[in-house]
Amino acid sequence: MLNKVSVIGAGAVGSTLAFHLFSRLPLREIAIVDIATGLAKGVSLDIEDTRAFFDSSTQITGADDFCAIANSDIVVVTAGITRKEGMSRQDLLKINAKIAKDVSAHIKKHAAQAIVIVVTNPLDLITYIFARETGFERNRVFGMGSSLDSARLLNILHQETKISTSALEAFVFGLHSNDMIVSSERMHAKGEAINKFLNKEEIKKVQARTALRGGEIISFLKNKSASFAPSFSIFRLISTIYEDKNEIIPVCALLKGEYGLNDLCVGVPCFINRKGIERIIEIELKEEEKEKLKKAVELIKEINNV
Ligand code: NAI
Ligand code: 2OP
Repeated sequence: MLNKVSVIGAGAVGSTLAFHLFSRLPLREIAIVDIATGLAKGVSLDIEDTRAFFDSSTQITGADDFCAIANSDIVVVTAGITRKEGMSRQDLLKINAKIAKDVSAHIKKHAAQAIVIVVTNPLDLITYIFARETGFERNRVFGMGSSLDSARLLNILHQETKISTSALEAFVFGLHSNDMIVSSERMHAKGEAINKFLNKEEIKKVQARTALRGGEIISFLKNKSASFAPSFSIFRLISTIYEDKNEIIPVCALLKGEYGLNDLCVGVPCFINRKGIERIIEIELKEEEKEKLKKAVELIKEINNV
């Protein structure tokens, strides 16, 4: 039985996630933690005031002390900064890597049995830091990125084809960056290949829009990034774990030889249930997918510089 979910970081993604959890899952407890004094407490009180609308019995707390995450079944990490204008990815990595090491130590101390879902960017590298620093089994430390990218792909495919998303099947995997893998071979409508519905140019447009979607949103929001679709993608992962559903979802997992890659984290399709990752699924890759996946090998070297 899943009783308690903790959310580290009460910013845009963390607070929206906490609201989804409170309004949709009958958890015993939700704890929100943020280092900004009072922020998590304020967010928790605001969410708590929706209790009567949902007839919820969930206890929700907010704190700036990590003791609040004790006995969590799942800890979601949204703590960190988002990329601002003029910042390089390496700047973001340096700051968020430090936060990740600090938060890992707190999780090890207070919630050593928890499943850890990492959201903080740069996702693939920060997930790796959590896997390394906690030392938890790899089935219970993974990142959310490719499932968001897949949701974006489905939305964009719907816009281009007008086909209902329930008839569409498509997924994105690889890095949670502009180098994500958005293959036309992975896009179908009722089992039919997507090229029955879109021509080459249209497919290329779908691929490019998907890969650049996070950046497109930042270009309008300026000093913040997306939060509604990211928080719902995390909620979906948690409800899959909660319901022990055995869904196949692409998550950022620590690879140990799968796809010929070792000791790095990248988005790959996984069987998700109460254990977290039940199994990493090794799909047969096309040549260009293999090439793109190798970019994860280059990327992991950046860890040495932080
Ligand atoms: P935000 O700035 O709204 O919230 C971040 C919160 O983390 C702040 O309230 C801050 O006080 C808190 N924080 C910083 N250091 C902390 C620490 N050591 N312990 C506890 N709390 C700490 O940012 P937002 O929009 O919620 O995004 C959070 C992170 O998630 C960013 O790194 C962003 O790039 C990433 N992100 C990843 C996505 C994905 O698909 N993987 C999607 C959207 C955002
Ligand atoms: C996104 O894809 C910034 O990772 C975040 O929207």
